Amino acid sequence: MSDRKPEALPITLRNITKTYGEIHALDDVSLDVRSGEFLTLLGPSGSGKTTLLMVLAGFTRPDRGSLKFGEHEVIRKPPHLRDVGMTFQNYALFPHMNVAGNVGYPLKLRGVSRAERAERVERALETVQLAGFGARGVDQLSGGQKQRVALARSIVFEPRILLMDEPLSALDKKLRDRMQIELRHLHEQLGMTTVYVTHDQREALTMSDRIAVVNNGRIMQLATPQELYEQPANKFVADFIGDSTFLPVSRAGDRLVAGGVTLKTTRPAPQSARLTLMLRPERIRLMEGETGDANVFHATVSELVYQGESFLLYARLADGSELVVRGAIRDETFRSLPAPGATVTLGITPADTVVIADEDR
Ligand SMILES: Nc1ncnc2c1ncn2[C@@H]1O[C@H](COP(=O)(O)OP(=O)(O)O)[C@@H](O)[C@H]1O
Ligand SMILES: [Mg+2]
Repeated sequence: MSDRKPEALPITLRNITKTYGEIHALDDVSLDVRSGEFLTLLGPSGSGKTTLLMVLAGFTRPDRGSLKFGEHEVIRKPPHLRDVGMTFQNYALFPHMNVAGNVGYPLKLRGVSRAERAERVERALETVQLAGFGARGVDQLSGGQKQRVALARSIVFEPRILLMDEPLSALDKKLRDRMQIELRHLHEQLGMTTVYVTHDQREALTMSDRIAVVNNGRIMQLATPQELYEQPANKFVADFIGDSTFLPVSRAGDRLVAGGVTLKTTRPAPQSARLTLMLRPERIRLMEGETGDANVFHATVSELVYQGESFLLYARLADGSELVVRGAIRDETFRSLPAPGATVTLGITPADTVVIADEDR
C-alpha cells in the first residue's frame, strides 16, 4: 500500500443496544478498541457478534448508544463515509466482475481515477499475494483466493478501521491455520485498528491482542488471550476457552473448600455468592512422594485414554466428582501411568488453583 500509513483510530462504543422483537441481539454493550489493536469478538453462534460488527460498519442502526471513531461520533454516518473496510463470512464478491473490478470497486465508489485505481488495485493484490490475478474471473478462484480478493477489496482504500466477520470459516483447516498467521502479519504491516469475529477460541487465541468474549448480546470479559485463559471472569468464559473441569467450592469461614480440600490460592476469590474451582487438565500433575505447597487431591483412576501426543486420565474423588488430567506422552511417563482402579495423588500449584464465579454473566 502507500508508504504513508494512515494513522489508526481508536473505537469507543457506549451502551449499544439492539433488539429484534423479543431478542436482545446487543444488550448495553460498551467497549474500547485501542488504536491499531487487533481485537477479536469471540462467542457462540447467535451471541451478537455480527450485529456488533454491523453497528460498527454502519449497516445496522442500534436502538440506543453512541459510537466514536477517534473523536468523532459516527452513529448517524452511512457505511461509505465511515473509513471502514469490511470482509464478510461468504466473501460477498460480485460474480459478474473480474478480480480487479471487485478489488477496485470501493475506489470507484470514492471517485478515484481509472489510472490510479489500476495502480492501487495491483498494490492491494500484491499485499494479499495475488499479484497478476486482476483479469481472472471470480469463479476461477479457489476458496482461499476468493477470501484474499475480499480482503484486498477491504483494504484497497486504506481504511483506518478493518472489520472481519468469520473470514476464514469456509476454508479447510490447513489453509485456515496459514491464513491466520498471514492476517496477523498483514495487520502488523498495515497497522489499522482491526475488529475480528470468530466463534473459534483457538483462532481467537492465535490472532488477537485482546479478546472480547460475547454471550447473549453482552461482553462477558475483555482481556488478553493469556488473561482469559489463566483468569476467566466466570464459568462461561472458562468453559468456552480451553478445556476445564469444575468443582463446587464452599466457604468455611475464611477457608475455601473443594473436593474435601482446603484450597491454597494466589488470588482472592470473587465476591460472588456461588464459587467454582476451575482446573485446566494440563495443569494437574500426577505426584509421587514430596508434594511441596501443591493442593493435593487423592483420587481413583476411572479411565485412561491414549491420544498419541498426550494422555487423558479421568480420576474420581472420594465425594464422587471427577477430574481430568492431561499430560504429554514421553516413553517413560506413559509406561508408568496408573491403570484404572489405581489410587493416584493429583497436585495443583496454588497459582493454577483458580476460583471463579459460578455464573454465566
Ligand atoms: N435482522 C435480524 N432480524 C431478526 N433477528 C436477528 C437479525 N439479526 C440478528 N438477529 C438475532 O440476533 C441475535 C444475534 O445474532 P448475530 O449477531 O447474527 O449473532 P452471531 O454473529 O454471534 O452468530 C440472534 O438471536 C439472531 O437470531
Ligand atoms: Mg455471525
